Amino acid sequence: RSEDIPVITIDGPTASGKGTLADQVAHALGYVILDSGSLYRACALAAHRGEVDLDDGEAVAAVGANLNLSFKNGHVWLDEEDISEDLRREATGLMASQVAAHPAVRAALNQLQLDFRRLPGLVADGRDMGTDVFPDAGLKVFLTASAATRAERRHKQLISKGISANIEGLRQDLEARDARDKNRAASPLHPAADAKMLDNSAQSIEESTQRVLAWWAQTRPFA
Ligand code: DC
Repeated sequence: RSEDIPVITIDGPTASGKGTLADQVAHALGYVILDSGSLYRACALAAHRGEVDLDDGEAVAAVGANLNLSFKNGHVWLDEEDISEDLRREATGLMASQVAAHPAVRAALNQLQLDFRRLPGLVADGRDMGTDVFPDAGLKVFLTASAATRAERRHKQLISKGISANIEGLRQDLEARDARDKNRAASPLHPAADAKMLDNSAQSIEESTQRVLAWWAQTRPFA
């Protein structure tokens, strides 16, 4: 039964380091990983390419319900195309945040997310993994970092890829996206009542990973 398959959720704002933390925790435990943001990104990208109006929730949801996605070696394929690079663009993130505000789109992507719950366990990262998609998760983490720290990290990431970026502009984009994700009516970003709060502004990835693994060991003393 899928309810018996363990789940760890890691939610938090843009560029808080959820993806990296989720990867590390999943790797340490040998669990499956769900980067739910990539589903919203892929849906937005497919809708944009199909010239669907991103403000039309029903139309974007129809695209979402018919996405032909596959995940291989950390890459994401849409139909026959590797869209991994397009998915990571800032512009795609902004479009994802826009389509994610439609309840119909969230509903269309729900089952796709539940399908990732497979043995031996799942680490799911996003905005509403602990609050809506996997409310019965054994461990829920809400990850935060200051906007300045997040903008700096995003800046470093882009520079290392040879993409020039302006740190103040990045920070403004992050804050605009946070505001939209927090203030929308459908599954707004907020910590679950039973979430463990983790601020990683002054923590390394290793420290955050060890923290989560220690919490998990406490949750599952006999695992
Ligand atoms: O985590 P990310 O930057 O890849 O997410 C892109 C956008 O998708 C984000 O701004 C909000 C939306 N999203 C969401 O609404 N719910 C999720 N579980 C994951 C992402």
